[in-house]
Amino acid sequence: MINFKELANKYKTPLYVYDLDYMATQYKELKEAFKGRKSIMAYAVKSNSNLSVVKHFSDLGSGADCVSIGEVRRAFLAGVPAYKIIFSGVGKSDDEIREAIEKDILYINVESESELGRVELIAKELNTICRISIRVNPNIDPKTHPYISTGLHGNKFGVDLDSAKRMYIKANNSDHLDPVGIHFHIGSQLTELQPIYESAEIVADLVRSLQTIKIELKFFDIGGGLGIKYDDEVTIKPYDYAQAILGTLKGLDLTVICEPGRFLTANAGYFVSKVLYEKKNDSKRFVIIDGAMNDLLRPSLYNAYHKIEAITDSNTTESKADIVGPVCESGDFFAKDYLLPDLEHNDLVVVHSSGAYGFGMGSNYNTRGRSAEVAISGGEDRLIRKREEFEDLVSLELEYLKK
Ligand code: LLP
Repeated sequence: MINFKELANKYKTPLYVYDLDYMATQYKELKEAFKGRKSIMAYAVKSNSNLSVVKHFSDLGSGADCVSIGEVRRAFLAGVPAYKIIFSGVGKSDDEIREAIEKDILYINVESESELGRVELIAKELNTICRISIRVNPNIDPKTHPYISTGLHGNKFGVDLDSAKRMYIKANNSDHLDPVGIHFHIGSQLTELQPIYESAEIVADLVRSLQTIKIELKFFDIGGGLGIKYDDEVTIKPYDYAQAILGTLKGLDLTVICEPGRFLTANAGYFVSKVLYEKKNDSKRFVIIDGAMNDLLRPSLYNAYHKIEAITDSNTTESKADIVGPVCESGDFFAKDYLLPDLEHNDLVVVHSSGAYGFGMGSNYNTRGRSAEVAISGGEDRLIRKREEFEDLVSLELEYLKK
């Protein structure tokens, strides 16, 4: 049991708290599911990019799936070896591509024919050969929130099968490209196995058809996407997930790469905030807390559900309340019509499942400093990111202020 009261007193609020031991348990379960086949877990850094979290996974043997050169640099700082780092994303700049090639990472995940051309050109300028993988868009509906669905042709991600084949042939004939992998990622917070299985089958068939023209790949990158329980979702078991994927790879000698994010971090994280006030009008009860949408955007952006726990001595009967922050937007809420007892100034509100896409999607909107982050391991807590102060927020502007 995490003592949120003690942590809130020690580090102040709002505060992110991450349970590193839980992250390790999740990591080991997923890795174990793929035993019997060579596999690399490449942690999706975007889900929680705190250096100490990335290092924690790296220490467990994980690689890193990165979506900007900033994330690649984080992975290096956290000690992830180059040969386990992947760089994906639909819009990589020339500078990012150059740096990734110079850093000799495992491969660049290419997401369009034009990008393949840029990567080839830059590798040629650098007089080297760049390992690449191609992200295939299998046109499968992942049945998740439309904002986090990525595997349909209506989404901007990856290329269709025909384009992918053309790109592999081009890469194979190039002096500066080495096609080593194939990649798909159809969406996030997936709770149905069938779309993943169908996508893997389509992509594995493409691998087989490439073999017939003597293009041999080494890596089968299945992306991330495993859903977690925010509420009462029935989730996919890692074992069933692995079995479904491995079933499509019969006869193929490929290393599986998996890019889990949310599965590893979401339920390890808690966002801890203090009650400032309660406020009622004739139709609504509001609980106003010191955390806001700039700290945790998911409810505002996706109408996402997060379990809320109130830590209070109050034992009044529960009634419905909107839990809202101080930001100047009506969309600044954590939950609506949520049953809570009456709360007092300084009671705590803990937002569960906040370890993935929480802090990282934060901003400084309304000139609010980002929260501190704390890690817990073996019952010990330690600060892993300082709370941002006003001075941090203005430091990049001050020297330009005309006196
Ligand atoms: N690999 C690729 C290529 C991805 O685009 C993503 C996530 C992952 C791996 C990791 O997916 P995960 O295992 O975490 O589902 N902000 C949204 C989620 C966006 C996911 C973007 N891509 C949210 O808060 O729900």
